[in-house]
Amino acid sequence: MLKAISIINSGGIVAFPTETVYGLGADATNESACSKIYKLKSRPNNNPIIVHVASVEEARKIGEFNELAEILASKLWPGPITLVVKYKESSGICKNVRAGLGTIGLRIPANEIALQLIRQTGKAIAAPSANISNYVSPTEAKHVLEAFGSEVHVLDGGKSTYGLESTIIDVSTARPRLLRFGFITPESISKLIDMDIEIASNSEIIAPGMMKKHYSPHVKLRMNATSLKVGEIGLGFGEIDIGELNLSKDGDLVEAASNIYSMIRILDNNAKKEGFHTIAVAPVPNISIGLAINDKLSRASV
Ligand code: TXA
Ligand code: MG
Repeated sequence: MLKAISIINSGGIVAFPTETVYGLGADATNESACSKIYKLKSRPNNNPIIVHVASVEEARKIGEFNELAEILASKLWPGPITLVVKYKESSGICKNVRAGLGTIGLRIPANEIALQLIRQTGKAIAAPSANISNYVSPTEAKHVLEAFGSEVHVLDGGKSTYGLESTIIDVSTARPRLLRFGFITPESISKLIDMDIEIASNSEIIAPGMMKKHYSPHVKLRMNATSLKVGEIGLGFGEIDIGELNLSKDGDLVEAASNIYSMIRILDNNAKKEGFHTIAVAPVPNISIGLAINDKLSRASV
């Protein structure tokens, strides 16, 4: 941890665990540090980065918290949800992190190592997922190593608890809009704020992370497969056990979410080695966390 703190404080980059996926972090007020993140990930400059803080008080210094934001922050933070709020010029968060937008994505991660890093550096930490842009997100320290090798110092926190990126909700206006599906479902948010939530469609993209094609393995991916075709390697779910790996033999969506990225990585590597062209994934029910799982799968299958 001491090394990680000193790297962040001197404008470097550290990968760290969160409860969702591993992040590639830098001091959010240091423009050159943050530009290194874009370079390392090959991330387009117009894709803003989520800023991680350790308290709601810190978050309020960076963004305008209206009533909706206050409710969601108090009920769901620390936790796997990012709130997009209006940005406060006075906070000094770099322009490149915001991609020049008037809003900012903020979250308090529910992971002790992440929180310690933020608290002990005294910095807000800008961190996208620690993968090369467009590849599958990392849920273990070794995934980060595979992508960046010794270029990046990694804090190892074991396997991510949830294994899917945070839910993103835009509460910068009076009408809340879901920008990315995640572990926290639109229904549960809707209940908390006693309001309907609009789901942003792909045709009104305001950030590249919401683009149709995203999170792809190197080989193709086919969803809702009930059997394997020639050239396919299978990933089962529940009773539809079409491969060596199964997202959850019990048909448990929480377990499936925590396995999806690491299993896709394994199958992607095996497919390359063994000459398969497609990963075929068994149907996952489109309810609750299954919404997020299917959203990721559909982006990977474009
Ligand atoms: O779970 C997570 O959110 C992980 C961990 C590390 O916290 N981070 C993550 O970051 O998934 P990234 O960069 O892979 O995805 C961030 C998404 C992108 O789709 C980006 O476009 C969107 O958040 N985003 C960030 N700021 C935004 C803003 N002001 N308005 C709209 N979308 C924003
Ligand atoms: Mg990402």
